[in-house]
Amino acid sequence: MTKPQSKHVLKLRKTLLAHYDARGRALSWRIRPKDRADGAVADPYKIWLSEIMCQQTTVTAVTPYWHKFLAKWPSVNDLANAPRDEVLAAWAGLGYYARARNLHKCAGVVANELGGEFPNSEQQLLTLPGIGPYSAAAIASICFGAPTNVVDGNVERVISRLYMVENPLPKGRAELREHAGEIASPNRRRSHRNGDYGQALMDLGSQICKPKNPKCEECPWSFACLATKAGVPENYPKKIKKQKPPNRYGAVFYLEREREGTREILLQQRPDKGLLGGMMQLPTTDWTDTQHPLDHLLTQAPYPHNWQLCDKPVKHVFTHFTLHLKVFTAQTRGDVEGVWARLDELDNYALPSLMRKAIKVGEIKGNFVMF
Ligand code: ADE
Repeated sequence: MTKPQSKHVLKLRKTLLAHYDARGRALSWRIRPKDRADGAVADPYKIWLSEIMCQQTTVTAVTPYWHKFLAKWPSVNDLANAPRDEVLAAWAGLGYYARARNLHKCAGVVANELGGEFPNSEQQLLTLPGIGPYSAAAIASICFGAPTNVVDGNVERVISRLYMVENPLPKGRAELREHAGEIASPNRRRSHRNGDYGQALMDLGSQICKPKNPKCEECPWSFACLATKAGVPENYPKKIKKQKPPNRYGAVFYLEREREGTREILLQQRPDKGLLGGMMQLPTTDWTDTQHPLDHLLTQAPYPHNWQLCDKPVKHVFTHFTLHLKVFTAQTRGDVEGVWARLDELDNYALPSLMRKAIKVGEIKGNFVMF
């Protein structure tokens, strides 16, 4: 059952913007309405960076990365000229690494083909690497005041409650987008308030219209919210129950050596395509649906050695599966070809969180291995 709220459109927009002016978050990259009144303008490079980082990632996790990137690469030209491996290393820990590869690609296009300027329309932004419908709508409205319909997971939750949309996600996504569009940018003209509106709506979803225990008494939209009136906001959005993601299993090999009093470990670069593409890793077995015995795993070791099994396996949850890795360690005095990374310089390498966890496990064990 859907019940259009269009009779409230102007009031919804007005009350949300007033709430944003009074209570909107002061995010590092955000131009607050009062700053704008003092002459501040949005820098598309900074906004683009924040919006790409914020996909599937919390503002709290993003903020230090955003500052680090701007300190290292103050302009889109600087980022385009950086070696890709350095960009991947700076991104390490933030997850969803295709974003970092596309970020670098997109910087290259903007710097080399567009004279260092981001385009100001949603349609043109959509043609750039890594910029999808959400990011294009957010960047076009925040930077250029374009009348867009910004829909992320937070917005979907707000709209599903406002209209009490019964059609469950993911099928109901198109309907939610349509309803969101009924309220966004009603007069279709460029205005800074379009950017404020999208950000206000995302703030409303993350700060007030939370998945659990929404703060309806503080919500500027409770006057019109059908789910609140029915006393069941938490029941929305309806979702088709997801299957639990499957498990996968494998092992990694932590090989350590000492050079001039410094501990070093052997790393490899993953292939460019696929999961964690281009990132660094400990040498690994295949990741399979079934668990294999230890002697089978050891046949895939990069180097025959007296491998010792660490007590603690590493578990990591990806979007589509949960990975369980055993960690084998060994120390070597021999000459083994490969990328040897100093343990005290691992921050210079593009190591995803999963591999950092595995290295921690191997490192502890490594301390105790005698040879
Ligand atoms: N999440 C991602 N981008 C955001 C923005 N600009 N404002 C609020 N939340 C966000």
